[in-house]
Amino acid sequence: MFIIWIYGYRFELSESCAKSPVSMSLNLRWSYLDHNATTPVWGEMIQEIPKWLNSFGNPSSIHQSGRSPKNIIREARKSIADFLRVSPLEIIFNSGASEGNNTVIKGFYESLISGRIPAERNEFMCSLVEHPSVIKSYKFIESKGLKVHWIPVSQKGAIDLAFFKEKLSSKIGLVSVMGANNETGNIFPIKKMAQEAHEVGAFFHCDCVQLIGKTLIDFLDLNVDYATFSGHKFYALKGTGFLYVKKNSPYQNLIDGGAQERSRRGGTENTLGIASLGYMVEVISNQQEKIDEIENLRNKLEAIILNRVDGVKITGIENPRLVNTSHMTLEGIDGETLLMNLDLEGFHVSTGAACSSGNPEPSPVLLNMGFTRDQAQSSLRVSLGWNSRYEEIERFSLALEKIIIRLREIKHGQKYFNN
Ligand SMILES: Cc1ncc(COP(=O)(O)O)c(C=O)c1O
Repeated sequence: MFIIWIYGYRFELSESCAKSPVSMSLNLRWSYLDHNATTPVWGEMIQEIPKWLNSFGNPSSIHQSGRSPKNIIREARKSIADFLRVSPLEIIFNSGASEGNNTVIKGFYESLISGRIPAERNEFMCSLVEHPSVIKSYKFIESKGLKVHWIPVSQKGAIDLAFFKEKLSSKIGLVSVMGANNETGNIFPIKKMAQEAHEVGAFFHCDCVQLIGKTLIDFLDLNVDYATFSGHKFYALKGTGFLYVKKNSPYQNLIDGGAQERSRRGGTENTLGIASLGYMVEVISNQQEKIDEIENLRNKLEAIILNRVDGVKITGIENPRLVNTSHMTLEGIDGETLLMNLDLEGFHVSTGAACSSGNPEPSPVLLNMGFTRDQAQSSLRVSLGWNSRYEEIERFSLALEKIIIRLREIKHGQKYFNN
């Protein structure tokens, strides 16, 4: 028997289980400050997992083994529908938000070309700072010769509402704008934009991934037609999520198969993942205190950094932001080098540069917001979570200050040497 602690909760594990990579890594002392990338599984929920695993049957089976997972799925769907204040019939379980975004956008295109949407509604609108699953779905539509209007977002994190209004017309079929940006944390005025889109008869899709657990959203009040959600951004399991489709909105499957999800998404349901979604929406609802606490911490973090480190600019601070996110550019610092140095000190954060196969490219989101390549490559994102503590951010700020001084000294030395 092994005993492990996850966020203050004690777990007793059998020998084989305790040797899993997850529990091994818990022995390391590190600070996880990258909650916009993913969240850890909620400690208390882990105790429920063996019970859910016991319901191993196929939810489509009509015998006893199938009934128990079916009930788990029904209850999770009800919890999510209550949380969003929508009908359970409007929720479709899937593998997460990449699938959800592809389903909405490519499905809309399919409905258009198959004549279920009037042919004159053949233009689209999308913000320039969306997740790649949205951007690439619209690139697919562009590759078919249709018009996509890309809505700009300023360096200060404001979406260009004048452009949006100017391009809105009775030709627009679908508009996609995310609730909050995963890199900068900037929040966009979805309710207002959805209303304006509806006034010209367009449908509105919102990627709500980053809103959950970081804002108290009144989802129904946003009045969007499609919304995507991902479990691993709010302490549920990975590879699981859900899609909201408002009643009577055009819908086309991305995955054909059996009759699961009322024939709207084929594939045997991920009972365990779905149960975790239902569990977590109950935990995160009505948590104003937690949200205030995180905001307070984030503000303290920024105050300490601004006070101690020269050449720091907080991104998007002039506009509404998620309470947990602090994105900054650091003059003369290479984000990748900084990230690796912080990692060595035990701090897990992220940079605007998406490193693919050893070739760090600046973030397209930042470039699209008008940052130069150098600025985009000198960025850092810290995203706090429900278990982040003041002690952590204090240690982090000290480490950041120390590393930045060192990196600037090295750079200065190199310059001196090169001259
Ligand atoms: C804003 C946003 N949308 C979509 C996704 C994709 O979600 P998933 O990992 O569930 O496919 C992410 C994840 O990084 C995200 O931050």
